[in-house]
Amino acid sequence: MDTPDTQYNSSRDTPAYPRVMIFDTTLRDGEQSPGASLNLPEKLEIAHALENLGVDIIEAGFPITSPGDFEAVHAVAAEITNSTVAGLARCTERDVRRAGEAVGKAARGRIHIFLATSKIHREFKLKKAKEEIIRLTVENVKLAREYVADVEFSPEDASRTELDYLAEVVHAAIEAGATTINCPDTVGNATPSEYRAMFEYLLQHVPGAKNVIFSSHCHNDLGLAVANSLSAVLGGARQVECTINGIGERAGNAALEEIVMAMRTRPDQFPFSTRINSRRLVPCSRLVSTLTGLHVQRNKAIVGENAFAHEAGIHQDGILKERSTYEIIVPEDVGWVQNKLVLGKHSGRHAFRQRLEELGHHLDEAMLDRAFEAFKALGDKKKEIYDEDLEALMDEQLKTDRQLFQLKNLQVMAGTYGVATATVTLLDSTGVEITDAAIGDGPVDAMFAAIQRLTRISAQLDSFQVRSITGGREAQGEVTVELTHHNHKVRGRGFSTDILEASAKAYLTAINRIRTITQRTVGQASPLDA
Ligand code: KIV
Ligand code: ZN
Repeated sequence: MDTPDTQYNSSRDTPAYPRVMIFDTTLRDGEQSPGASLNLPEKLEIAHALENLGVDIIEAGFPITSPGDFEAVHAVAAEITNSTVAGLARCTERDVRRAGEAVGKAARGRIHIFLATSKIHREFKLKKAKEEIIRLTVENVKLAREYVADVEFSPEDASRTELDYLAEVVHAAIEAGATTINCPDTVGNATPSEYRAMFEYLLQHVPGAKNVIFSSHCHNDLGLAVANSLSAVLGGARQVECTINGIGERAGNAALEEIVMAMRTRPDQFPFSTRINSRRLVPCSRLVSTLTGLHVQRNKAIVGENAFAHEAGIHQDGILKERSTYEIIVPEDVGWVQNKLVLGKHSGRHAFRQRLEELGHHLDEAMLDRAFEAFKALGDKKKEIYDEDLEALMDEQLKTDRQLFQLKNLQVMAGTYGVATATVTLLDSTGVEITDAAIGDGPVDAMFAAIQRLTRISAQLDSFQVRSITGGREAQGEVTVELTHHNHKVRGRGFSTDILEASAKAYLTAINRIRTITQRTVGQASPLDA
């Protein structure tokens, strides 16, 4: 297996260039994307993929927000050894202590504290004076240092904060013991030259600035998150906060894969190195997309399906003569594989495991047994099994572990005239079979109505999408649903060669997420209270 430390796949990416640390916040800021909530096994799966990718710091969550978030940060901190594991905290004693408990036992743990500093946040959100913000910063950074030696402080909305005041806060945080100073463009309002100038100013004016690492954290509201992050590096930042596929609040965060490949492809402009094994970018992107249910747009740079597709004849001709005429990156360098047909019914367990590992899934023996059984069952329905099928299979397998309700059986009657009826049998969380039937306006509606009756959860269906994940008549269908339940948006995906079964699975996944969210948020602080 590749290890991040040995996998520099470009001779340009040598330690001769100054290192930029990659801080991935897919599991925290990324998970704040509406409908993208992840459960513990999913978070662990992504954390391991990020560790293998070579990420320096994994922000695993916001421990105070719920017992589930605490547990996730704690579990990631216990399992990950090659990356630092960070937990987020507001600038309060409760938050910092909770984050400290979550990451305190990590091989390398970090507490990341944030407090807004801009005038607009001070006056309208916090209702706190400048001095009080400095006092809270100092107190809480000092408290965090009692738990870990590695403390990051973020003056939230830094890019809209008066520079002289920002310098004062940053100075106080450094004096109190912060080792990384992250200056976020929280609302995605900055431009590259402005954002760079902020880092240059701080590095020049804050005493002790040279002894800490400055970090960028950009949101993509103006589509400038990656440009701003790179500009920050040119201005002296040596840590970049980003997410896989650029997922995150609103328009998202800066996309990890784009930042890394910009530095690697244009060392003349960005002479910096990272520890990222770029061949893992596409598998990691797929994993995050599969588990969060957030599709990657086809034309997305680096990891989009069309990122290396050449349609125009003149381009195809050029590529055939000399690849570099129209390609600035070798697709294999970011993890695209030429031959996507991987396995068939007669493939063995070893080949199956190896391909899953290449795709970033590392299974223990028990899980491998179950997944291999499902693979053989799929092989009976489908002759050729592609990477997309394996991703779908893994999605289903990870779900089986955490589903409160599981689909056991489905019978649907529908036709051109008359009402459709569906009879659904589920296994509840104790393994007991429960069956009910319902009528509906078509077979899908009838199935969803039966599931609502069985689970006693009724939610509004906002979107229902069907697509085929590979080509051909035997292809598996992917159904994605979006539901709203008491202001919570949730997504669910289901895969099957039978589209009705895929629909029921997608719906049930979303219903299970609603159950988990309602169980875990009762009486808890919301991250939005920050
Ligand atoms: O965007 C932001 O300001 C944040 C902070 C918590 C770092 O996500
Ligand atoms: Zn953010």
